[in-house]
Amino acid sequence: MTAAPRIRVLFDEDTIAKRNEALAQEIAAAKPENLLVVAVLKGSFMFAADLIRALHRSGLAPQVEFVHLSSYLDGTISTGNVTILRDVESDVRGRDVLLVDDILESGRTVTFAKDLLMARGAKSVKTAVLLEKPGKRAVQIHPDYVGFTCPDVFVVGYGMDVAHSYRQLPFVGVVDHLDNSPDLFDKPE
Ligand code: IMP
Ligand code: MG
Repeated sequence: MTAAPRIRVLFDEDTIAKRNEALAQEIAAAKPENLLVVAVLKGSFMFAADLIRALHRSGLAPQVEFVHLSSYLDGTISTGNVTILRDVESDVRGRDVLLVDDILESGRTVTFAKDLLMARGAKSVKTAVLLEKPGKRAVQIHPDYVGFTCPDVFVVGYGMDVAHSYRQLPFVGVVDHLDNSPDLFDKPE
């Protein structure tokens, strides 16, 4: 029997929860009107769920929508094509939209979604990403709200997967066999 791969914690539950509250306060301070949160499935579902509850605590009452996008992957590398697997149902015309995604890597997914919502007549589209990997940007996009800057490793947990596994983890971590940089982490799980 092979042992289950170890997951090294990169951002723990407590750190993420505190950052979500701070992000929500920042978002609320900009006083969005008629706010519509659009969460990009699947990877952002946990971040979005926590962030919208933090937005509620910060005094906002956003409506919530989902778009399911797929960026074609070759292994764990994005090839650049983005397609809509499930679209939003709401009319975004004239609305302040907050687009929520898990990771900004090449930037293609968030750029695709932002352009789509702007083309449909949103008044504004701001972007909130849990993680930003600065080293891999292929298109120019500056997210409005960033949870954490992430090292250039493949991460899982807190909604993010590798081959459909690990989404349930309440923290962001790195699967040992996908990464050989133990120096990045101080706390093996
Ligand atoms: P981008 O279009 O290259 O910015 O890729 C962003 C999408 O790729 C994210 O929304 C994730 O779904 C996925 N992705 C990128 N890096 C990782 C990772 O380290 N773990 C899990 N998913 C990732
Ligand atoms: Mg994604």
